[in-house]
Amino acid sequence: MTSLDDFPRVALGHWPTPLEPCDRLRSQLGGPRIWLKRDDCSGLAFGGNKTRKLEFLLGDAQAQGSSAIVTFGAVQSNHARQTAAACARLGLPCDLVLTDAVDRPTENYRRSGNRLLDDLFGATVHLVADNDAAIIRAGELAEADAGRYFIDPGGSSAVGALGYVAAGIELAAQLQEQGVEPDSIVVAASTGGTSAGLTVGLAAAGVDAVVRSVAVYADAEHTAGSISRLIDQTAALVGIEAPAPHTWEVEGRALGDGYGIETAESHAAIFALAQAEGVLLDPVYTAKAFGDLLGASSDMDPNGDVVFLHTGGQPGVFAYADAFA
Ligand SMILES: Cc1ncc(COP(=O)(O)O)c(C=O)c1O
Repeated sequence: MTSLDDFPRVALGHWPTPLEPCDRLRSQLGGPRIWLKRDDCSGLAFGGNKTRKLEFLLGDAQAQGSSAIVTFGAVQSNHARQTAAACARLGLPCDLVLTDAVDRPTENYRRSGNRLLDDLFGATVHLVADNDAAIIRAGELAEADAGRYFIDPGGSSAVGALGYVAAGIELAAQLQEQGVEPDSIVVAASTGGTSAGLTVGLAAAGVDAVVRSVAVYADAEHTAGSISRLIDQTAALVGIEAPAPHTWEVEGRALGDGYGIETAESHAAIFALAQAEGVLLDPVYTAKAFGDLLGASSDMDPNGDVVFLHTGGQPGVFAYADAFA
């Protein structure tokens, strides 16, 4: 395997993030011991999974001598917020093309949470109606300055997924240190780069656990297609064989009525983890994935261990404040 040190990288996060058991939650609900891998504590602008991806993406941008960064997301994109913060840290101009994809016309959704932070970090925000308009705006930005570096939605290219190869290797060392052998590692999946990189990193480190991705953006089939493609590309980039298909799976039932729309289970998961452990989930990603895990835990070995990769997103709580009133 190619060493991750051979890829250009910038330092943005605080590593390793903690691995912590949810013992109070378990004493209330029973079931397996759930360990939180705290990537919500990644150390950049409220934290989250994009910090790891951005270390490699912005390393690549700097290595190419790029003059500015452009990326894409929904109005409340965590990826956009973390990109804006990372660009501020590196002194790079940042353009965010945000698509009005979630039908939530509240003041909180449109102005608070991540959207407020984008402005604080000094990003230039281009609000567009849909994906077609986003592509047109991206073309205009490329034409105006050919030195701009474009980051895929969610930072999900093979280069971005390297961040989660690193996370898989980091987690493998923590599991060994703490003597934990989880049956599965549960993670929210949208563009799939987090799941793909993690699957490759855990395989490279010899961890025998299934990565269970909970689809929160599109249905399970679409999400599995994205993850599969990114696993192949990421494994090729680091020079290993793609991990076997039985090492990962995608669960589709938590999506409910669609991206950014809460469900009864996601809502309950936020209160459960907040009040048992003092840990915040976000309404769009981690609450759906954690709610799915709680639902599935009654069928799991009560003496077993499972890891939940907490991918952050907490500013979303403020954007969805109306839902908690
Ligand atoms: C908090 C949070 N969790 C999970 C994800 C999903 O990551 P990926 O797009 O790599 O599947 C995202 C993506 O935006 C996110 O913001």
